[in-house]
Amino acid sequence: MTALFAILGYAAIAIFLVGVLAKVWKYGSTPAPLKIPQTPAPVTASGVPTRILSEVVLFKSLFKSNRVIWLAGYVFHIGLLLALVKHYRFVFASVPEALAYIDTFEMYPGLIMLGGLGLLFLLRLIVDRTMFISVMTDYFLLVLLIAIAGTGSLAKHFFRVDIAQVKDFMMGLVAFKPADFPTQPIFIIHFSLVLLLLAYFPFSKLMHAAGLFFSPTRNQVDNPREKRIVAPWAEGGQPEPTPVAEEAMEASG
Ligand code: HEM
Repeated sequence: MTALFAILGYAAIAIFLVGVLAKVWKYGSTPAPLKIPQTPAPVTASGVPTRILSEVVLFKSLFKSNRVIWLAGYVFHIGLLLALVKHYRFVFASVPEALAYIDTFEMYPGLIMLGGLGLLFLLRLIVDRTMFISVMTDYFLLVLLIAIAGTGSLAKHFFRVDIAQVKDFMMGLVAFKPADFPTQPIFIIHFSLVLLLLAYFPFSKLMHAAGLFFSPTRNQVDNPREKRIVAPWAEGGQPEPTPVAEEAMEASG
């Protein structure tokens, strides 16, 4: 069991890291030859980080376009953030004071995630326009995340898992010396689903987490007039008419 899950764990993490880096490389090396910032956009380069930050922290564009989806998505992401904060202790021996303090509060991150995810799922079923553009992978991801939050919450509130053993196993994994794998069924399911999520991440729309930073409509400065880019062929003013064009001009008088 330990060897199997250690191998699966390393494979999932390798796919995740290589996959995400490859996608980020692709995003970064894709030319963005047109000025297409979505206005109102910053008119100086220094305004761009603020704009991106408002997207990352507040999901500003989504807020402007659809308040219900924004609320559902925001609640889910807050729950996810809290869940990840609570998982820090599984992977690192010492927990920073601030995180340890946050950890003392019972915040029910699983239930917060499930609330947001449930609403996102419901919207895909009851809003015609949203249902029309939904594809199988949209539902698959929602179900996968619901299952992870669900099994995590069950592990926390109903079927106690051996947290010390989880910590030993995870820290062993990080140090390339895997310790015994915790065999409580609910943990096996939770962990397996997380591995599936990690391996699927680079191929899914979850890559929006990195893609946002490369989005031309969000990261461009609105200065097409102030900073005009002239193509090399147009640098000397009007190009000389070609012989064919000259003939055509003469013919038309
Ligand atoms: C390899 C990585 C992971 C391990 C070893 C792990 C392990 C665990 C364990 C042992 C619990 C029960 C905690 C307790 O009893 O206090 C738990 C809870 C939970 N897990 Fe994970 N987990 C992992 C990754 C994730 C990920 C990536 C997510 C989210 C996408 C997640 C979401 C949750 C949630 C929402 C809970 C309930 C937390 C609560 O209500 O306090 N887990 N996890």
